[in-house]
Amino acid sequence: MKTALITGINGQDGSYLAELLLEKNYKVWGILKRNSVAENQTYRLDGIYGNPNLHLEYGDLTDFASLVRVLQLAKPMEVYNLAAQSHVRISFDQPIYTAQVTGVGTLNLLEAIRLVCPTSRVYQASSSEMFGNSIDADGFQRETTPLNPVSPYACAKVFSYNICRNYRNAYNMFISNGILFNHESPRRGSNFVTNKVAKEAAKIKLGLSDKLSLGNMDATRDWGHAKDYVRAMWMILQHNSADDFVCATGISHSVQDLVNYVFDYVELDPRQYVRTDKRYFRPEELRDLKGDANKAKEILGWEPEITFQDMMKEMVDYWLDYYKGHVKK
Ligand code: NAP
Ligand code: GDD
Repeated sequence: MKTALITGINGQDGSYLAELLLEKNYKVWGILKRNSVAENQTYRLDGIYGNPNLHLEYGDLTDFASLVRVLQLAKPMEVYNLAAQSHVRISFDQPIYTAQVTGVGTLNLLEAIRLVCPTSRVYQASSSEMFGNSIDADGFQRETTPLNPVSPYACAKVFSYNICRNYRNAYNMFISNGILFNHESPRRGSNFVTNKVAKEAAKIKLGLSDKLSLGNMDATRDWGHAKDYVRAMWMILQHNSADDFVCATGISHSVQDLVNYVFDYVELDPRQYVRTDKRYFRPEELRDLKGDANKAKEILGWEPEITFQDMMKEMVDYWLDYYKGHVKK
């Protein structure tokens, strides 16, 4: 039986990845950071909670000793490092904390793996945010595009990306970076733009709200579905050598396009409800992201399957059901 450890198991990606690995008959260990309210913390794991092959342990990326403890218990063949302070706007409010978790936290984990289980295969959740405003002449970002980060979050992810490559080369460890473009789902935190728009449009449709405040509507993103992207994570670690891969759909939409699509789906005119608010702009903006995932396609055979349109419908339907249930109660 294969054994995997997931940091960030209760996050969007961690929960889908845990489901995928359990389906593949893995024993799955997950690290939970302590929260004062335990109930809310594992709601994304509801579908697999109690599975005898799922083991949850307290730990924190900033607490080296806790990582050593869990690695000694789990003895994982594969480690997926998904834990992070992952919100770009919030990284401007908490830059030092973000650097400690999203940057140095990765180094804590790598050092613990090097000491406890150096033959484990390691996946690092790197991000398209690392490219910043660096774009190739054809309008795409790919593995060779220079990294030019424009947020504390992206700077921390660049550190993690580089320290992973350094440990791979210096210690001959199997460490791969997935450079993933934005991916979403109904499990996305509702302060990320796709789920914020889906949730608020559903509330407006049901008469529970009458406005939606957003930041930069001109930014464009390459949005895919989290289920497709956790499949890529697994494929990256099954490859015969450690390497770095971009995962993206190759199609980008503006925030305005996203709003138009969602409001059209719920049959409302966005001009009546959507406003911009300075609070949601960032001190430095990353304007455009569009990824070229040809390397992952050619070497791993990975391709995204779920379209932006189907994903947004799934997210809006989730919130419509949620609030209909809520209103009934
Ligand atoms: P997410 O939903 O924000 O999940 C982050 C996870 O990290 C949560 O489980 C969180 O636990 C945990 N965590 C935070 N601080 C921690 C700490 N100090 N120690 C241990 N765990 C900690 O993020 P996601 O969307 O699933 O993304 C997964 C990873 O991929 C992240 O590293 C993110 O930066 C990266 N990434 C995401 C995307 C995307 O579009 N989703 C794209 C590229 C890269 P609590 O919830 O209990 O705080
Ligand atoms: N969150 C948010 N809220 N974003 C808004 C809003 C708003 O009210 N209004 C406009 N936006 C714009 C942001 O300025 C950004 O250009 C775009 O919508 C997407 O924002 P987010 O959904 O917050 O995602 P992100 O692109 O900043 O970061 C996500 O993707 C990265 C990969 O590119 C996160 O998941 C990161 O963790 C991930 O690395």
